[in-house]
Amino acid sequence: MTPTFTRRELLVTGARASAGASAICVPLLRAPTGAAATKATVTSRDVGGLGASDHIIVAYKNAVAAMKALPSSDPRSWTYQAAIHGTFASPVQTAWNTCEHGTYWFWPWHRMYLHYFERIIRKYSGDSGWALPYWNYESASERQLPVPFRDPSSSLYTSNRGPGWNSGAASLSAGTVDTSGGFIPTDFTTASSILEGTPHGAVHVSVGGLMGSVPTAAQDPIFYLHHANIDRLWNLWLAQGGGRTDPLSDKTWKNRKFTFFDENKNQVQLTSCDVLRCALQLEYTYENEPAEVNLYCLKFIIPWKYLVFVVIRFPLPPIELNQKVSLVRLDIRKFRDRLTSLAKSKNDTLLLKFDNVVAARQPGVVWQVYLGAPKGAKLSTDGPFFVGNIALFGMGIRNETPKGQKFMPASFTMVADRAIMAGLNENPSGVLPLTFVPSGPLIKGKPVVPKLRSKVTIGKVSLVNLNQKPTR
Ligand code: C2O
Repeated sequence: MTPTFTRRELLVTGARASAGASAICVPLLRAPTGAAATKATVTSRDVGGLGASDHIIVAYKNAVAAMKALPSSDPRSWTYQAAIHGTFASPVQTAWNTCEHGTYWFWPWHRMYLHYFERIIRKYSGDSGWALPYWNYESASERQLPVPFRDPSSSLYTSNRGPGWNSGAASLSAGTVDTSGGFIPTDFTTASSILEGTPHGAVHVSVGGLMGSVPTAAQDPIFYLHHANIDRLWNLWLAQGGGRTDPLSDKTWKNRKFTFFDENKNQVQLTSCDVLRCALQLEYTYENEPAEVNLYCLKFIIPWKYLVFVVIRFPLPPIELNQKVSLVRLDIRKFRDRLTSLAKSKNDTLLLKFDNVVAARQPGVVWQVYLGAPKGAKLSTDGPFFVGNIALFGMGIRNETPKGQKFMPASFTMVADRAIMAGLNENPSGVLPLTFVPSGPLIKGKPVVPKLRSKVTIGKVSLVNLNQKPTR
C-alpha cells in the first residue's frame, strides 16, 4: 500500500498526546549553587541480593500481613492501598482509581504512591529505616519471580499469577525487560511513554493474574518492587544527561495535586515538584545508581521546544493482533531519502507510533514488534529489527475502564531509527514488513505463547520524528 499523504504537524508530547499544542521542555535546572546534594537516609536494594530471611523481606512480609488484617475502610489497609491504584469495587472511596497511565504523570504519580506505601510499611513493620527493594529484571539472573514471593505460607504470595510464576518455571523474556528504546529520547514524555510500554506494561502482562490488570495489579506484593524499578529508571534516564530533564516549564505537569493517605491515616496531597529529587526530598536512593540529577521547580524558566511531527501516516486498514503472527507492509518508497537522513541524524529520532489500540479485555499476550525484518529472517529481540512490544495494560482495555471514567484507547511509541536503516538495507524495494509476534513469559527457558483472551486492534500507524535538539 502507498501512503497517500505526508502530514507535518505538531504533536503535543504533554498530557495525553491528543491536542495539537507544541511540547515545551526546559534546560537543565540543577541544584542552586552551594546546595549540599547528599541528603538521603535509606537505600532501596536490588531484591536479587536479598534472601527470604533478610530483615528487609521479613519486615515487608510482616507489614503486608498487618495491612491485610486492617478493615478495608482503613486507608492504610492492603485493599484500600491497592484500590488507590485501581479497583473494580464500588462505591468508589477517596483517591481510588487514581493511577496515571498513558500520561506524563506516570512517573511522578507512581513515585508519590510508593512513597506513602513505604511509610505505611515502615509503620507496620516497626522498621523506620525500611526501603522498598526493586526488582532488577534487566539482570539475566533475576528474570524469575523473586523467591520470597513464591512461598505459599508468606503474605507476599498470591496464587493469582500466570502459569509457572509461583513454581519458578516462568521467567521474563529478554525483549520484555528491554529499556534501550526508552533511554534514547531526550524528551521526557516520549521516554516515559516508551518505558511505560516496555518494560513496564510488558512485565505486568507477562506476570499476569492480579498483576495483569490495572484494577487488581497492586494487590500482588511484587507490584511495588516492579514499580520501584520503574521509578529507578526515571533517575537512570535523567543521569544520562544530554538534555534529558523533567517538564519543568509545564505548569500543568508541575501543579496538579494528587491525593494519598499517610501512615497515620491523614489525607495528603503531592505535586510533581514534591517528588523531583529522591535523595533530597524523599530521602532515598537506589543501590548502585549514579549520582542523582537534582532538578528544581523554579518560578522563572526559559521554555524550550521539542518539535515532533508526523512524517508518514500509513493508510492501513485496522490491524488485528491475535494468536498468530500478523504482518503488514509499510511502503516508505517515497520517503526513503528523507527517512534515511532523519534516521542518521543525531538530532532526530524516528518513532513508530501505534494509536487507537483497543481490546475488549486483557489479552494476556505481549506482541513483539519487528520492523523491516525480511521474509524468513530469524526474529530475535536482540536483533536490529526489534522495536518494542504491544502489551496492553489499563489504557485501551474496555472492561477495565473505572466507573465514571472515559474509555481511552492505548498508544505505543517505539524508536525506529535502527530498524529503518537495517530494513532498507534488507528490503531494497522500500516496502518494509511490520511483524507482530505473540509472546509471553519463557517457561523453563522456552518461549510459550499464552492463551489469548482477547484480540487487539490497532487503528493507526505512523512514523513520527522527534527533533532531539530543543529550540528556544
Ligand atoms: Cu499504575 Cu504498573 O501500574
